Amino acid sequence: MSTLTDEEPGKDAVVTGDQAPAGEVDSARADSSGGESGAGGAGGLWPALGSRSLDRELAKPLPQQFPGWRAGSHRFDGPGGTLVHAAVRDVMASYLGGPDVANDHGAFPASHESDAIVAGTCRRLRALFGARDGCFVFGQGMTTLTTTFVRSLTSTLGARDELVITELDHEADRAPWQALAAARGLTVREAPMSPSGLLPAEAVLDRISARTKWVAVTAASNALGTVPDLAAIIKGAHRAGARVFVDAVQAVAHQCIDIAALGCDAFVTAAYKWYGPHCGVLWISDEIADGAHLPEQVPSAGTLPPGQLSLGTTNFEAVLGTGVAAELLTRWDRDGIAVAEQQLTAQLLAGLDTIPEVRVLGPGPSPVRSPVVTFQIRGLPAERAAALLGQRGISVWHGTFYAGSAMRAVSRDNPEAVRAGIAAYTTQADVQILVDAVAALAAGRWESP
Ligand SMILES: Cc1ncc(COP(=O)(O)O)c(C=O)c1O
Repeated sequence: MSTLTDEEPGKDAVVTGDQAPAGEVDSARADSSGGESGAGGAGGLWPALGSRSLDRELAKPLPQQFPGWRAGSHRFDGPGGTLVHAAVRDVMASYLGGPDVANDHGAFPASHESDAIVAGTCRRLRALFGARDGCFVFGQGMTTLTTTFVRSLTSTLGARDELVITELDHEADRAPWQALAAARGLTVREAPMSPSGLLPAEAVLDRISARTKWVAVTAASNALGTVPDLAAIIKGAHRAGARVFVDAVQAVAHQCIDIAALGCDAFVTAAYKWYGPHCGVLWISDEIADGAHLPEQVPSAGTLPPGQLSLGTTNFEAVLGTGVAAELLTRWDRDGIAVAEQQLTAQLLAGLDTIPEVRVLGPGPSPVRSPVVTFQIRGLPAERAAALLGQRGISVWHGTFYAGSAMRAVSRDNPEAVRAGIAAYTTQADVQILVDAVAALAAGRWESP
């Protein structure tokens, strides 16, 4: 496979639909998915987006760029899904309300628009993630894409092979690998966390052997905010001949990720964690794409990358919104937002530290940490605390965040906790209101509103 450039727009198009026999799929891709405004579609959604919505919204203060943002509502639930940016909403509504809703790879203008949507989004994802080669696959979310991808590796692995997973990872980056291992008789080695909630690179590297085929590791923990040293892990894994699959669902909103610099082999994320719609994004390198095949290959999706991992028709509106979210992240002052998020995280950690009944789990203040603060209040179950905070307009998650192994590693007997995530629209006032509310809860000074 060759490297995609702007002159070769077809390769990134997800091939779906019932209109193109598998043999014609590649030429359909190459012919029809290049233009940003479609090869004849009436809408021209990408130019419309650029001129009318994103430009306008980016001139506003951050919280006002989010139509769902409300004064008096304090949204700390971002690690479960952020508010959606206005430009994402605008372009999705414009697409769904317009004349260009059609399946892709047809010979008529509306269908060309769908081809252009996929190509335009891929181009923006490439820019955001620094992906020079490889291809993107879209799907419902990270779990769906990871399960699909891992399943596509089945025939490439045998009983003597080994996999490495980590104690820190979300279950969606553990269970599919464990299921594959059980089905194929592979050995799974789990890299342990330290009691303080870190995942030292050596803990992963020590579990890699000459038999290791894949290492599955998170770029940032959705439960504790831990950020492992991915570069060291990937380098060490490659030295041993292993591939690396990166779960970047939590990371993308807060860290700039450069796939080419990292050198990972596969990378997955989901746009609803970074101000976009509910849409999963999987990137796989050319080398991996060539060997990945699902047993239940559906001919309409094609047999070449990335079509062979795409099951059925693409969710074009979500792919379009994902492209807008990707462009948003490339146009925002990411460094400035990251600094602001770190300051708010430090403010929150410092505030919670003054409350004797509160125990914070996971790493302390650090520039190398995702802005997620997870804590317990002595004598108050996490679910009750979250419900009481919710009554005051403060949205936090509670439980183990589908990262039960990570939570048990830092709090074995009582892994349930409250989680507050900082997002681009979080303010100092939001954080102060949360700290004051937790202090009141902890001191039993809580009155129902
Ligand atoms: C780090 C991480 N990985 C994986 C997932 C699973 O993502 P999805 O719900 O899109 O399948 C999540 C969702 O919360 C997550 O935070």
